[in-house]
Amino acid sequence: MTLDNSFSGEEILTWRRFQLSKGGRSVDLDWLLDIGGGLSWGDLQMMKIFEETNYQLDLSLVELSVIWMRFLNQKIPLQYQVGRCPWRDFELEVNPSVLIPRHETELMIDLAIKKLKPIEKRRGRWVDLGTGSGALAIALSRSFPQWMGHAVDCSEKALSIAQKNIEKLASNSTIDMHLGNWWDPLKNWLGTFDLAIANPPYIPKSHFEKLDSIVRDNEPHLALFGGKDGLDCCREIIHGSMKGLRGGGWLIIEHHFDQSERVLGILKKNGFLDVQFENDLEGIRRFALGRHP
Ligand SMILES: C[S@@+](CC[C@H](N)C(=O)[O-])C[C@H]1O[C@@H](n2cnc3c(N)ncnc32)[C@H](O)[C@@H]1O
Repeated sequence: MTLDNSFSGEEILTWRRFQLSKGGRSVDLDWLLDIGGGLSWGDLQMMKIFEETNYQLDLSLVELSVIWMRFLNQKIPLQYQVGRCPWRDFELEVNPSVLIPRHETELMIDLAIKKLKPIEKRRGRWVDLGTGSGALAIALSRSFPQWMGHAVDCSEKALSIAQKNIEKLASNSTIDMHLGNWWDPLKNWLGTFDLAIANPPYIPKSHFEKLDSIVRDNEPHLALFGGKDGLDCCREIIHGSMKGLRGGGWLIIEHHFDQSERVLGILKKNGFLDVQFENDLEGIRRFALGRHP
């Protein structure tokens, strides 16, 4: 080994086998090698054939070992330790003030694109309610660069990470950031939104003990728990959307795997039309949509 983070394929593969002998899944370790070390899956395959080739890593094998040990022993998410998380076609900065953006949430952007395609040419307006790391806001502004965007969160720390990510990943966009409770900071624009998108906290408080400790002990509770039945934020967002959206505007909201019927019911009760659900990639109902009359 050398001090400049340059390692032969053989050294890396030996290190990898040793780390896996301590526990954990190869998929997580390879993710760490990729995001923390800068070593792609293709590099890993190549080094099995050409073991003498040298690779320059972003972090040393010692640093990567420390992260892997903290992940195995203290259950600290790799994303928080490395400070980054890939999502759709970009990489977000993350820290424990924001939820680690999940892969299933990426689908919300495809749903939004489908709904907005017919009016794409006009300069419309969207809002990401509970923006966290800014994942949805950034993806929306990259898909609709001419549109006006708004990102809301009640956590000042989350909003500052979102701001950083937006500056880096959507620097040409027009996104207004708002600190506050759901629709409250948007009073000046009520009735003008073509799209409201939200991945609110929706885990019922009663699931606290059942939740995987890596999530429960590390991710912000403000981003996870949605009251007794998990639907407190959902109800508030849907109710506010009747005033926030313009006629014909869409609300797209993510929810827990077993909340579909109840969320669709809340949408209908509030007067939404074309109320529908969408599945995640595992075929589970995870998204609810409704159109403002
Ligand atoms: C489940 S996280 C979603 C983060 C991000 N949109 C994503 O999909 O990765 C929910 C977010 O809602 C924010 N939040 C919670 N209560 C809120 C409230 N009353 N008003 C505004 N934002 C809130 C949290 O701070 C958190 O960032």
